Amino acid sequence: MEIVIVKDRAMVGRHAAGLIEQTVKSRPAAVLGLATGSSPLPVYEALEGKNLDWTDVSGFALDEYVDIPARHPQSYASVIRREVVDRLGLDGRRVHVPDGRASDLDAAARQFDGAIRETGGVDLQLLGIGTNGHVGFNEPGSSFASRTRVAALTANTREANSRFFDSVHQVPTHCITQGLGTILEARRLVLVADGTHKAEAVARAVEGPVTSMCPASAIQLHPWATVVIDEAAAAKL
Ligand code: GLP
Repeated sequence: MEIVIVKDRAMVGRHAAGLIEQTVKSRPAAVLGLATGSSPLPVYEALEGKNLDWTDVSGFALDEYVDIPARHPQSYASVIRREVVDRLGLDGRRVHVPDGRASDLDAAARQFDGAIRETGGVDLQLLGIGTNGHVGFNEPGSSFASRTRVAALTANTREANSRFFDSVHQVPTHCITQGLGTILEARRLVLVADGTHKAEAVARAVEGPVTSMCPASAIQLHPWATVVIDEAAAAKL
């Protein structure tokens, strides 16, 4: 695993954007794994300044809330459209987010997992990390072999994500998330984190035992994982 420690959040964004740039330049029809949350935002901002050809690039989001209207500003479909598709000019038809409103959620999750495989797999998967070590919405206890599926959010995650909603009660209780097994199939993983509140989770993911109680520790099993963090998030390494 490669660990890159840079000064601040903006530089995390610039460094990770450089890795995505390399991927898209070496493979114009690259398949990107897209992450939401606040950590990847500087990455997308830094990509905006680059003159990349996105015509043939496709993307798969990591996760989506269940039962949130697709047009809700905090649905991950909205976030991906705003922060990635519209900002960078990707072809929206090539960018996929799990359908958290499907009548058959299990079938929607399986179909999403299958669609990733059909494209030939993800070239670069961008990841954030939750303060409890979750990736995507794979909460502690998630199997390393898990596939895209319906899962419950922990109270900790709902509390952490309540900052995007009017109150914690409005945060959905369930989600569809790519599984850890799905994520580990990406050819390259790039995990980004910044801030002291992430230092503990980063240390557990990078240096702690590989355990499903810290889902992000699964990246230790991946042959090509890069962790890009600022000095604050690196404080406990
Ligand atoms: C959410 C997302 C994760 C993300 C995490 C951390 O729960 N499902 O993909 O990594 O939050 O978010 P943030 O980057 O805002 O701290």
